[in-house]
Amino acid sequence: MKIDILTLFPNLFDGVFSESIIKRAIDEKKVEINLIDFREYTLDPHNKVDDTPYGGGAGMVLMCQPIFDCINSIKTDDSVVIMLTPDGEVYKQKTAYSLSNKKHIILLCGHYEGFDERIRSICDMEISIGDYVLTGGEIPAMVLVDSIVRLIPGVIKEESHIEDSFNNNDLLDYPVYTKPRVYNGMEVPEVLLSGDHKKIDEYRYKESVRRTEIRRPDLIEKDN
Ligand code: ADE
Repeated sequence: MKIDILTLFPNLFDGVFSESIIKRAIDEKKVEINLIDFREYTLDPHNKVDDTPYGGGAGMVLMCQPIFDCINSIKTDDSVVIMLTPDGEVYKQKTAYSLSNKKHIILLCGHYEGFDERIRSICDMEISIGDYVLTGGEIPAMVLVDSIVRLIPGVIKEESHIEDSFNNNDLLDYPVYTKPRVYNGMEVPEVLLSGDHKKIDEYRYKESVRRTEIRRPDLIEKDN
């Protein structure tokens, strides 16, 4: 898989892809990640990529030309172009799964007041990572890359994500414990020490349902 990230601030990504699982996926050539500064595509003599909004109002608006030229020069028939924007579809694990099968993902990060509306016409999807406004699309792009890359076959063991929260019938994860058996008076549930795998599975499923009912009843209601 290839992921191209279009951003005015490529340095913001320093560090994020050079540690842990994402770094390993890059090193093992499971994914190629490129940072592309779309300012390099502007035809403006002063290197401008934004301008004031028609009709007036606060802030600057990202212009069509640099972004259209940049996307058109890297896009192929296999590309999915995604705009990161607070008014996009709210990002879910299901979307991460479907994106993990794509050959080429282009992530477009905005800044300032927003994108010229016509830029939406060159995008296949618009994604928001939640109902809050960030200063730009870079952090959302990191969230997408992290959640997608871990799902690429061979990046982590399949068992590690098969039981993730949101996979298992939209249930949250069950609680897990490790040694010691008693810590500050808090004990590991007896059933987990029993070696009875049927009972352990039942316990874990019940705890997943209980946790979801308490913390995220909306996930259960959605199923009915
Ligand atoms: N850009 C600014 N805020 C955002 C959000 N919540 N999701 C995606 N892109 C954004």
